[in-house]
Amino acid sequence: MSEFDIVVRNGTVVTAADTASCDVGIREGRIVALGEGLGQGAREIDAGGKLVLPGGIDSHCHIDQVSGMGVRTADDFHSATISAAFGGNTTVIPFAAQQRGQSLRSVVQDYHELATPKAVIDYAFHLIISDPSEQILNQELPALIHDGYTSFKVFMTYERMRLNDRQLLDVLSVARREGALMMVHAENDDVIAWISAKLLEQGHREPKFHAISHAQIAESEATHRAIRLSELMDVPLLVVHVSAEGAMNEIRRAQNAGLRVYGETCPQYLFLTKEDLDLPAVEGAKFCCSPPPRDTNSQAAMWRGLKNGTFQVFSSDHAPYRFDETGKLSAGPNPSFKEIANGLPGLELRLPLLFSEGVQTGRLTVNEFVALASTNAARIYGLDGRKGSIAVGLDADLAIWNPDRSVTVTADMMHDNAGYTPYEGRTLNGWPETVVSRGRVIVNEGEFSAEPGSGDFLPCEKPEPARPLGRLLPEVDPATNFGAEIISDTPLDTGAGD
Ligand code: URP
Ligand code: ZN
Ligand code: ZN
Repeated sequence: MSEFDIVVRNGTVVTAADTASCDVGIREGRIVALGEGLGQGAREIDAGGKLVLPGGIDSHCHIDQVSGMGVRTADDFHSATISAAFGGNTTVIPFAAQQRGQSLRSVVQDYHELATPKAVIDYAFHLIISDPSEQILNQELPALIHDGYTSFKVFMTYERMRLNDRQLLDVLSVARREGALMMVHAENDDVIAWISAKLLEQGHREPKFHAISHAQIAESEATHRAIRLSELMDVPLLVVHVSAEGAMNEIRRAQNAGLRVYGETCPQYLFLTKEDLDLPAVEGAKFCCSPPPRDTNSQAAMWRGLKNGTFQVFSSDHAPYRFDETGKLSAGPNPSFKEIANGLPGLELRLPLLFSEGVQTGRLTVNEFVALASTNAARIYGLDGRKGSIAVGLDADLAIWNPDRSVTVTADMMHDNAGYTPYEGRTLNGWPETVVSRGRVIVNEGEFSAEPGSGDFLPCEKPEPARPLGRLLPEVDPATNFGAEIISDTPLDTGAGD
């Protein structure tokens, strides 16, 4: 009788904190031993010369979701989670996205119906709130936070999704009261709309004008505003998909001032530029996402932010649309830049890109890579009791990387449904060859084996306790605590029907 179900032997085990040569013993889906010369496993995996890392957590991806522009993304939970697994991930956190008028509870139920029969790796959900009515804020959202949906994204742009500042404050005050984390897509909608109208008036329709309309200042202004609003409430905020230095500096300044502001960037802001949108005909549509890829200075700034800790999270923002009438060209074969669905595929290459151009070039240590790939997301989103590291008691979620394997990327190799990859032809150094999800070897040397529906839903813990009010609110009268009461503890009257 074997002592372990699996032993991963002779590898270099890396966490966000440590690097050690040791074996990993797995039983009943969990890590039960770390040490030298562990006893026999029913299955033995030789990781000699390889890096044994925690499975990646992609904490920003859109799966089977109708986007802000009303187009459904190309992957279902089966193709998306297989693609994620081949990219060294064992957990995804997609969105249960509310369209205006929908009950949030029923939206969550719908996403479970999409995910339960199909996911092959574990998943949690963030919520997207596009309609913060009194019923949503005071009834549904608190109940959902209690049930393990402890983070939600709001948009400051997109006609069908955006919230105004008053609505952002309403949502932030629920985040404060209930102990949840707000994520924000920070771009100034009016700036984008104004520039877009001018461009279209002058006949500028091509994809490259998408990048011009989404000016950097639209991003930095909205980032500044979102941070100030969260400061008023003294609640944590995570600014997603940061693309440029201005927005990054806003986050850094807030962090230096002691605010709990987190930042995320994505592969497209390290590896693509606005020149990629400037291709013949509408080929540039393949690279349209929001915020758009910027320039080489912005890429350098994003690398700095990953290194110096401004960004805790590196996510794909996987939002795949096929280059046909179901996706990028849903408005016709020759759409204007305003009619192109925003988003790129990225689940499968997020980590290989970061490993190759981060770790292998010496920009990041392998421990920093692990923090950005997995550990920080687990901590920030309340999954660290189970995920994000290699330690006795945690789920046996591992990605075994061969640092010496070079792969030249082609669309044919990808397992998602986008039909193309923005990273076609790049040679990446280092590859996740074996992936173990809760003790199941699901990827091994290019072969996949896991049943649809074998991924589990993960309820998230509340990320951080609220801090006492008044610390940042000089207008609060210490005798009556009056300002604090307004912000925190009374059920909201959102002024619906005003
Ligand atoms: O262009 C993007 N990023 N599309 C996905 C939706 C979003 O805003 O994250
Ligand atoms: Zn977004
Ligand atoms: Zn997104």
